[in-house]
This record gives sequence, structure tokens and C-alpha cells, in this order.
Amino acid sequence: MTADASPPARPVRAERRPVDEQDSLQANRADWDRYADEYQATHGEFLGDDGFLWGPEGVREDSLGALGPVAGKDVLELGCGAGQCSRWVLRHQGRPVGLDVSMRQLQHSRRIDLEHGTAVPTVCAGAAAIPFTDDAFDVVFSAFGALQFIADADALVTEIARVTRPGGRLAFSVTHPTRWMFPDDPGEGGLLASQSYWDRTPYVEVDDETGETSYVEHHRTLGDWVRALTAAGYRLVDLIEPEWPADHDRVWGGWSRTRGLLTPGTALFVADLPG
Ligand SMILES: C[S@@+](CC[C@H](N)C(=O)[O-])C[C@H]1O[C@@H](n2cnc3c(N)ncnc32)[C@H](O)[C@@H]1O
Repeated sequence: MTADASPPARPVRAERRPVDEQDSLQANRADWDRYADEYQATHGEFLGDDGFLWGPEGVREDSLGALGPVAGKDVLELGCGAGQCSRWVLRHQGRPVGLDVSMRQLQHSRRIDLEHGTAVPTVCAGAAAIPFTDDAFDVVFSAFGALQFIADADALVTEIARVTRPGGRLAFSVTHPTRWMFPDDPGEGGLLASQSYWDRTPYVEVDDETGETSYVEHHRTLGDWVRALTAAGYRLVDLIEPEWPADHDRVWGGWSRTRGLLTPGTALFVADLPG
């Protein structure tokens, strides 16, 4: 968990407590606005300006093909950050739109576009209420984007289904639910199960000075995701748990070779709506 909580500018304390949709949105928008410059400076090169990375293990859409062919398709990316994946869609003749709650992340998308002469359309919004009409997209995806930041996963998946055309696809990666059992430590300390897998109480960082919520992640079990998808009418096509390549040494937050060789760090769900 703590996919990318910003290194705190002010002291924060981590706790597990319930947080609603509005608080989650406000906290995470401010956090990602604060953290965006550092996130892009740290990970931008590994992501690639028009690269499509599914997670810290380094697995890419070029080899996975989780979206299927995107040429000529309307494609929505949730939690697009600087739009690297959407730019990949553009390069593969799709019509992407990137949605993100953080204006600063979207400014980085614009910066990259200006550098490359590309144009990824973006919209600044929270993914819980997607500002598009019904049946607007053929494919919706998210690479560690919005899904684990949303309080109501069932409502979110229903909202995604609403904007997806019949026969459309949803593919998203999130922190592997089993990771919630472990401390968020890339070293040996992160291998000792110490929290219940079934405890869905959100991970929250609280500003020590103001008492305000400054970062939130929501946890669901694997079964919760399957139920959310099937309840919204999806058929699960695949659940991919990328293995850590033996020669991959990059540490990304709590993800590392030490942990990656032993336990899954990413869960990637692929699901289709009936045609
Ligand atoms: C770990 S980054 C992933 C970004 C991009 N997929 C990448 O690989 O760099 C998570 C992104 O989700 C965005 N995000 C967080 N909460 C969100 C929400 N409720 N709705 C939309 N985007 C959100 C953040 O602003 C951030 O850009």
C-alpha cells in the first residue's frame, strides 16, 4: 500500500480509520499536487514519456496487451498523471483522454506534450464522478491511478461501466491486496505479515499540526474487486500478478526486489462488458 504517498513536507502520522469520498478526494488532490514535481523527477524516466508501465515490476503494455488493440478506439485513462500511458495509446492510433484529480500532474502532461509535439486531451476531475456521457469509451484503464484512492469501489466500477460501450474493456492495476498484510517497507521488515488482510479500514496520513487528513488509500480484497466487477456487469477476463524480474533492482516506495521475488506487489484486473 501507500503506492506513492508523498514524502511528508510536514510531520504526519499514519493510521487506519474510515474516510469518506469527499475527504479522500480533497486529501489526495492536495497530496498529488504537492508531490507531482518530485514524482515526475523520480519516476519520469522509468515511465517513459510515451511509455505504458503497469507497475513497479516493470511490466509494460507492449508485452502484455491487456487493453487489446486500441487503434481507432476511444480510450479513457483514470488517474493518468503526466499522461504517459495515454500518449502510448495515441502512438498506437487510439483516441485517449486522461483524467486526473491533480492539476499539477496534468501540467506535467502538458509539459511533455509541448516537448514532443503531441496532444493528450485531459480533464481534471475525481474518478468517482466521471464527467462524460454514457457509452463514451471503448476502453477504460488505470495504471496505479485512481482506483485505490476511491472510497466506494462498487460505485466506482458501476460509474466506469456507465461510460463504457457494450463490449468495452476495463483494465486496471492496483497494489496487490495481499500487500496490505505487510508493513510498507521495501526491506526485510516488509516481509512480516502484521495486519489483517480482511481489514478494509483505509490507510490514512494525518497532518500532525492541523489534524487534517493529508493522504488516503482504500483497501479491497481480491474477492471485493471480483464482486465489484461482476455486480457492475463485467466478465473477468484475467487477473495478472506480474512477477518480479530477477535482474530488476529498482526500489519504488515499498516495492523492491527483496519483496518482489517472494510476494506479489501488483494486481492487474482485465474485464469486459457483454456486447
Ligand atoms: C501512482 S500515480 C499513477 C499515475 C500514472 N498512471 C503513472 O503511472 O505515473 C496515481 C495518480 O492517481 C491520481 N489520483 C488520485 N486520486 C484520484 C482520484 N480520486 N481521481 C482521479 N485521479 C486520482 C493522482 O493524482 C496520480 O496522478
